[in-house]
Amino acid sequence: MLRHQILDFLAQHPEKYVSGERISQQLNVTRAAIWKQIQVLKEEGFEIEGQSKNGYCLLKTPFALNEWVLKRALSTSSLGSKITLEDELKSTNVRAKELARQGSVHGQVVLARLQSSGRGRLQRPWDSPRGGLWMSVVLCPNLSLADASKLTLAASVAIVDALEELFSLRIGIKWPNDLVFNGLKIAGILGEVVGEWNTVQTIILGMGINVNFSREQLSPLLNATTLFEILGYEVDLNILAAGILKHLEKQVLSLEKRAFEELRENWSDRATGLGEEVRILRGEQVIQGIFKGITIDGALLLETNDGEKSFSAGEVQLRSKAGKYF
Ligand code: BTN
Repeated sequence: MLRHQILDFLAQHPEKYVSGERISQQLNVTRAAIWKQIQVLKEEGFEIEGQSKNGYCLLKTPFALNEWVLKRALSTSSLGSKITLEDELKSTNVRAKELARQGSVHGQVVLARLQSSGRGRLQRPWDSPRGGLWMSVVLCPNLSLADASKLTLAASVAIVDALEELFSLRIGIKWPNDLVFNGLKIAGILGEVVGEWNTVQTIILGMGINVNFSREQLSPLLNATTLFEILGYEVDLNILAAGILKHLEKQVLSLEKRAFEELRENWSDRATGLGEEVRILRGEQVIQGIFKGITIDGALLLETNDGEKSFSAGEVQLRSKAGKYF
């Protein structure tokens, strides 16, 4: 794409002005064509200064999702090898599933700047305004279906690690894979299986992170927060996406080596509510007990009045200092 070639050329000359003439010769197009593409890039959020004498200089890349910026930030070998980025999608998970059925590759990433009907766990809607990171990864890992279910645990660890590495922020994991800060949800993961139970499995890992928008843009009923509320400034979504994919790739490789105990420990290190009194909601049923940890399969272990029990599904409520469950 001509726009990307112009960016590549400008990026090869950091902090320097490159004349329109030089770019047009290099890329074998007219200066008018260059000028037109520079205007489009500016609309996309690139800060490019144009001086009539000296030419163009790339000053800043956008914080909004952008394929060129994201590709430059990526340090992975398989995740993100193919990227589908749309301004708006109903749901990146739905698109990723369509692509998977058409035979997409392991590591294909689907992103949207806005989702019009984002989906959460337990058939809930997922508010996905502009400024969030709405991303799905198609994985065809070398794992049995039972072990593939651990990928959502791996994804939560990857997101926590990326947020810590990039912003020195310590986020907790609320079983099974809600990411919380001070009891408020900042991100969630939706893992879905594509295909028949007995064939080679493709997994869609959908990750939703509330990033560059204020809390008011989410339903008031949600116990949620955003990275912007926590940090007080906006961040580069491309850097964040690349950071998460880097940590996720590491986690997937480690799972493929069957390092389940390591994942369990990593997950537990970041868990909120360990050793505390919690409630599990399973439909109408409410079970109370002490949260002892997770099993190697990711099931939650609860010390109840009737002894130790494990749960592979349900919703956890933690107990606040005031004694309320949330
Ligand atoms: C949850 O309920 O906690 C899971 C939320 C998962 C949301 C993400 S956003 C990207 C992907 N596309 C969707 O429609 N859902 C997931």
